[in-house]
Amino acid sequence: MESFDAVDIIRTKRDGEVLTPEQIDWVIDAYTRGVVADEQMSALAMAIFLQGMTREEIARWTLAMMNSGEKMSFADLGKRTTDKHSTGGVGDKTTLPLAPLVASFGVAVPQLSGRGLGHTGGTLDKLESIPGWQASIDNDRLMRILADVGCVVCAPGAGLAPADKKLYALRDITSTVDCVPLIASSIMSKKIAEGTSALVLDVKVGSGAFMKDLDHARELAQTMVDLGSDAGVNTVALLTDMGKPLGRGIGNALEVKESVEVLAGGGPADLVELTCTLAREMLALAGISDADVEAALSDGRAMDHWRRMIEAQGGDPDAELPVARHTHDIVADRDGVLTHTDALAFGVASWRLGAGRARKEDPVQAGAGIWMHKTQGEKVRKGDVLFTLHTDTPERFDRALDSLEGGWTLGDDAAQAPQIVLDRIG
Ligand code: URA
Repeated sequence: MESFDAVDIIRTKRDGEVLTPEQIDWVIDAYTRGVVADEQMSALAMAIFLQGMTREEIARWTLAMMNSGEKMSFADLGKRTTDKHSTGGVGDKTTLPLAPLVASFGVAVPQLSGRGLGHTGGTLDKLESIPGWQASIDNDRLMRILADVGCVVCAPGAGLAPADKKLYALRDITSTVDCVPLIASSIMSKKIAEGTSALVLDVKVGSGAFMKDLDHARELAQTMVDLGSDAGVNTVALLTDMGKPLGRGIGNALEVKESVEVLAGGGPADLVELTCTLAREMLALAGISDADVEAALSDGRAMDHWRRMIEAQGGDPDAELPVARHTHDIVADRDGVLTHTDALAFGVASWRLGAGRARKEDPVQAGAGIWMHKTQGEKVRKGDVLFTLHTDTPERFDRALDSLEGGWTLGDDAAQAPQIVLDRIG
């Protein structure tokens, strides 16, 4: 005999009332067991989307999702651990240089990461473009690599927050993703279950992010920082710009290529700045406040950790990255300045070229995406190649070009370059 009825719980939230802790515990547990059906959970997610949740409800919902599965612990590692999570953006490949960079200071970085869905890329899809690299590793191997190398980027095991796994897939097809209580509880249930002791959240703001404006992003960031602190995880959040793509590369192998440039001491200024800022925050939470992270990029320490991390997960750091079979250049028709490059337009175009997936079982093309030879604020001459589109399937070019229509502007004066870090909470 079940203690509650899903229909009553849906009605309570639909009518704007507050769910009790017992109702929340039951509905998450019953959904994980298959007693609450997908269509009932869809209705409840929509009711939450429309009515919101109190801070207490969000905290209990997060705890219930965390308790739906296993909890990991890095206590036996003998090293401090720190973790970063981004809410997702276009060209956001910071995890790739960041994990080895932070590990090069002796702090362990267990990055359990996801795949892309929709126009935002997924870290695992990016790394899978490296020949041989494996996303799925068991917990013993994860611990060994963390002990030896200091950083791992891998898929979470099936046992971690299974309620979120089911609910996230449902939200994706019921237009209930971009909702502060549901995003905050989804991210934080997994992060708390992972057992990390310190967490830096990169909350993206702008057209290419879930949160389009600063107020909503602040609300999401504060909610997650509160959830982390309540659970004993030392948490800070940076609000960072996602009005334009980050760096020059968008798409799996193109983003690995650019990450390796950063690890070799180069790379575009915005990506380097964000990587270094996040690294300093992660290290500060682990008790290292005077780290010269720029030096660790320029003197090869971070690159050394990257190579060892890729090798430990079966990859060949020296292998050629896959290249798409077809390219299409977009050329400047006048002299001027690239005044605007819209993250959403570029993200959707890259997705349409084959870099992302429409359904979670779809394959991605490793070489597909866009290389931005010019980025926002740069001067161009008539005839310069601005962007190169890459795909294995050239019939995709037209739809990608449609999505770029109006997504960039050539003008006379560059507006001030947007700041990367917009605010800090925590
Ligand atoms: N990432 C998550 O893990 N969950 C969300 O709801 C949104 C982004």
